Amino acid sequence: MAIIELENINKYYDVAGDEKLHVLKDINLEVKKGEYLAILGPSGSGKSTLMNIIGCMDHMSDGSYILDGELIHEAKEKELVRIRNEKIGFVFQRYHLIPTYNVLQNIVMPLLMRGMTLEEAREKSVGTIEMLGLSQRISHKPSELSGGQQQRVAIARALVGEPAILLADEPTGALDRNSGLEVLKLFKRLNDMGNTIVMITHDADVATHADRTVKIVDGELFGTH
Ligand SMILES: Nc1ncnc2c1ncn2[C@@H]1O[C@H](COP(=O)(O)OP(=O)(O)O)[C@@H](O)[C@H]1O
Ligand SMILES: [Mg+2]
Repeated sequence: MAIIELENINKYYDVAGDEKLHVLKDINLEVKKGEYLAILGPSGSGKSTLMNIIGCMDHMSDGSYILDGELIHEAKEKELVRIRNEKIGFVFQRYHLIPTYNVLQNIVMPLLMRGMTLEEAREKSVGTIEMLGLSQRISHKPSELSGGQQQRVAIARALVGEPAILLADEPTGALDRNSGLEVLKLFKRLNDMGNTIVMITHDADVATHADRTVKIVDGELFGTH
């Protein structure tokens, strides 16, 4: 079953004059439930633009996108907010944790945004916190943790709402080699448990950890079949 179906996606940016910058060119991509996909491409190739569209954070110029049965290309802004919150767990290069919140507060936040009570949210997050080895850290602030630990908190926050996909943009990009490998091992384990993962990277070594790699070059996607 396809979780992600992108068909003929184009993205143009308006730039000075009447020129338009054609950043994504007729992108077709299907990601199946339980897959672990890497999208590999050099800087400026359109990776973040594609991630923002897959993550329902930006609009495509044309084309169609179905995410876990939802017609994203037809969805209104309010719908997109709900879909984003329910269906996607984001992991970013620089963690994007809230610095004034402790680990537990960061992890339960997406559940509170869905209207859960703090009690329910805490209960629901216990398993995720244990699975990621963060039980001893729940009252620490992000600044008291290493980069690798902060990324694990970000992964816990992404997973706690049981998203349809885990979407990671250069998740090891800010980490030293060993912490990066730990994160990649964790992704493998999460994928073995059934999580669908889409990981964006410029690093071919990082991409080898996924089960399938597609390449993006100058806005065109290769190796999708
Ligand atoms: N908001 C924007 N307005 C105009 N051009 C943009 C914008 N965002 C990205 N671009 C351009 O789109 C291309 C792809 O950018 P991006 O998706 O960030 O690539 P990557 O993540 O692979 O480095 C680049 O040429 C970049 O300059
Ligand atoms: Mg980028």
